[in-house]
Amino acid sequence: MQRPPVPYDHQLSKTLSTLVRPGLLLVGTRPSGESNVMTIGWGTVGVVWGKPTFVVLVRPSRHTFGFIEDSHEFTVNVPAADMREWVGVCGSKSGRDLDKFAAYGIATSPGQNVQTATIDACPMVYECRVVHWSDMIPANLVPEAETSFYRGQDYHRMYFGQILGAYAASDY
Ligand SMILES: Cc1cc2nc3c(=O)[nH]c(=O)nc-3n(C[C@H](O)[C@H](O)[C@H](O)COP(=O)(O)O)c2cc1C
Repeated sequence: MQRPPVPYDHQLSKTLSTLVRPGLLLVGTRPSGESNVMTIGWGTVGVVWGKPTFVVLVRPSRHTFGFIEDSHEFTVNVPAADMREWVGVCGSKSGRDLDKFAAYGIATSPGQNVQTATIDACPMVYECRVVHWSDMIPANLVPEAETSFYRGQDYHRMYFGQILGAYAASDY
């Protein structure tokens, strides 16, 4: 899909509503060229250190975690409406057990500013370079978040991704 450059806040409310349901697609690509994808439902777009930034929250147990650790990059891909079923797969199957791209014939292309893959069928993508990461500090969490989401394990790592480029289909 041809995707001209757009401002990082292009269709931001659509990105945020898709984050809530069905989720966005977070892709990591190792320096070797191997890619993996997972669904994310948590994240935020804004400005940090004066630059457009996409913050994603990834648990260390996710296969994708190692890809971002290795490359210090990620892309966030906004799925098209007809990709809903695959978004569900990406949020329930691990790349450790299944090549989610190959199994569903999903084509990717390298980003324009990063080596990390972008998903061809997605109408909008964000290409991000990790400029900071930070682990959740259990002692600083409100008790209800600790109980509902962690119970002592697999605390998210927050990756602050400077948005080097955002691209969207011209009809999006
Ligand atoms: C709607 C939805 C949102 C999700 N959001 C996140 C998220 O923000 N962070 C996270 O670590 N896992 C999240 N997950 C879980 C991962 O997508 C899931 O564990 C996935 O299978 C991980 O794939 P991987 O092991 O190939 O990285 C979400 C799952 C769903 C279904």
